[in-house]
Amino acid sequence: MIDLREPWSIGPVEVPTRLVLAPMAGVSVQAFRRQGRRFGAGLVCSEMVSCAGIEHGNERTLGYLRVASDEHPLAIQLFGSDPRAMADAARMIESVGADLVDVNFGCPVKKVTRTGAGAHLLEDRDRACAIVSAIADAVEIPVTVKLRRGVRNGSRSALELGPRLVEAGASSLTLHPRSAEQMYTGTADHSLTAELVSLVGVPVVASGDITSRARAQAVLTTTGAEAVMVGRGAQGNPWALREIVDGDGHEPTREEVAAELVLFIRETVRELGERRASGFLKKFYGWYLGRGRFPKPFKQELLRLDSTEEVERRLLAAAPAAIEIVERLEAEVPGGAEQTLELPVSIYGGG
Ligand SMILES: Cc1cc2nc3c(=O)[nH]c(=O)nc-3n(C[C@H](O)[C@H](O)[C@H](O)COP(=O)(O)O)c2cc1C
Repeated sequence: MIDLREPWSIGPVEVPTRLVLAPMAGVSVQAFRRQGRRFGAGLVCSEMVSCAGIEHGNERTLGYLRVASDEHPLAIQLFGSDPRAMADAARMIESVGADLVDVNFGCPVKKVTRTGAGAHLLEDRDRACAIVSAIADAVEIPVTVKLRRGVRNGSRSALELGPRLVEAGASSLTLHPRSAEQMYTGTADHSLTAELVSLVGVPVVASGDITSRARAQAVLTTTGAEAVMVGRGAQGNPWALREIVDGDGHEPTREEVAAELVLFIRETVRELGERRASGFLKKFYGWYLGRGRFPKPFKQELLRLDSTEEVERRLLAAAPAAIEIVERLEAEVPGGAEQTLELPVSIYGGG
């Protein structure tokens, strides 16, 4: 058995557990990242932020990224295609206190790839290396890269590109071994992750379809990856992280579910403001309350409510003992200085 509570390092940055919370556009807000840390993720990553070049292309964004003092170690993910603009943006990322700058070479969404960014860079290897090298020259913090296997089905681009990215200055690589064409269909082929591990001398993180402790153990053992990354499995289900790291598979009570959701709502409203948060949060209601935790009509009722205050009131009425848990959790969450990164968060995610 591999101990997921073992620390490991990316350059000088120590990561306390071998579980990384995936960057997910439209999901990885600050409340998600903080919750991930509480449930055992050793490293969390922001949603992708756009370097200035894409901001000017009228991208729709979710506002600006806020960084709190209790999120570290934190990676902030950047996407774009111009090495100079990426290096400038990386300096801004460093100045708000990120521990790592992560570069997105995996986003399959056309709005991103047609600007030459995201997964497009898997096939534009000289440019991909120029981006990593420009960022590594610009900042002191380690540069990491998140890749898909390639653009087309069956592609092995990541295996050709990976070692070159390390030469260009990448301190760690995360591989989601699906093609961009595949989006999220089929399965992640972690035999490619094992190949990548054998080709590079830096830590590799395995991403894709890791939803249980058994799967995490199997992927770590068969690939030699340093850590696993969990994305969709943690949506509305931070308890999955605890199960993966500690083997604590107890199902949360209704009160625990309601309390985590209330805290999530409150923090997200603080981060995004009520207007943006109320729409943004709707998908989370289904994620939290599904899995047989609450009856379907209750979930549908929440979706029809206009304000997050009403949602909170309904949740606490359905599980009154949650109030005490929320109070305890709020007392535990440290306040403290926040910094805002003046780069827009993209809603067009993927990787
Ligand atoms: C809604 C959503 C948004 C995503 N956004 C990003 C992103 O902004 N950057 C990135 O590198 N990967 C992104 N991904 C990919 C995930 O980080 C992860 O690699 C992928 O979902 C596979 O892992 P999983 O099976 O654990 O979900 C996103 C995935 C989802 C489902």
